[in-house]
Amino acid sequence: MRVHVADHPLITHKLTVLRDERTPSSVFRQLTEELVTLLAYEATRNVRVESIEIRTPVTATTGVRIGEPRPLVVPILRAGLGMLDGMVKLLPTAEVGFLGMARDEQTLQPYTYAERLPADLSDRQCFILDPMLATGGSLGAAIDFLFARGAQDVTAICILGAPEGVAKIKDLVGDRDVTLVLGSLDEGLNEKGYIVPGLGDAGDRLYGTAD
Ligand code: PRP
Ligand code: URA
Repeated sequence: MRVHVADHPLITHKLTVLRDERTPSSVFRQLTEELVTLLAYEATRNVRVESIEIRTPVTATTGVRIGEPRPLVVPILRAGLGMLDGMVKLLPTAEVGFLGMARDEQTLQPYTYAERLPADLSDRQCFILDPMLATGGSLGAAIDFLFARGAQDVTAICILGAPEGVAKIKDLVGDRDVTLVLGSLDEGLNEKGYIVPGLGDAGDRLYGTAD
């Protein structure tokens, strides 16, 4: 598994505002979108392309376009939805599938409550969006789901990750083709399974409390 942790002052600056408990939802949403676009630049480094011939006003030349089958972007609901617009701005021809997952806050185990994905993902490059990689339960289940449908390679973009979650995903994926792109690798998890220093509950900060 390849792990890329962003190291750029613009990303660190935006992350600092995102973490700040005083940042309101409207700004949090805007920053989430901007951060994804910056992280997507790295995450799409190996997106499959094919050659095409075009004419400029001056001459004929060879360029590239995003290849077939089109990449699939999969936000994990709820919080991953806040990353979708930023991603499809950079990858406008991608298809979008949805996975609804929530973590039981007592057991920290994820459960899947919704799924809208193509039945056959053979040969597809998939991009999972989830702002938080904490214990790794949710992302691990999502990765398994996509490979079980035949995905060829999976890249996950997470705004924050904990070392515990990264280690769990590494164990789980073995030699499968997985790339993890993180905005920051934080210190660890607290006793409630929250990322430290983190940003709190990403879904709540984007959309308000669920219950
Ligand atoms: C959050 C987050 C991840 C998960 C991470 O979702 O968006 O999906 O927790 O935790 P884990 O790595 O320990 O599995 P949550 O379950 O709070 O649902 P929400 O997006 O609907 O708020
Ligand atoms: N889910 C979140 O939204 N935040 C955390 O810190 C951990 C899991």
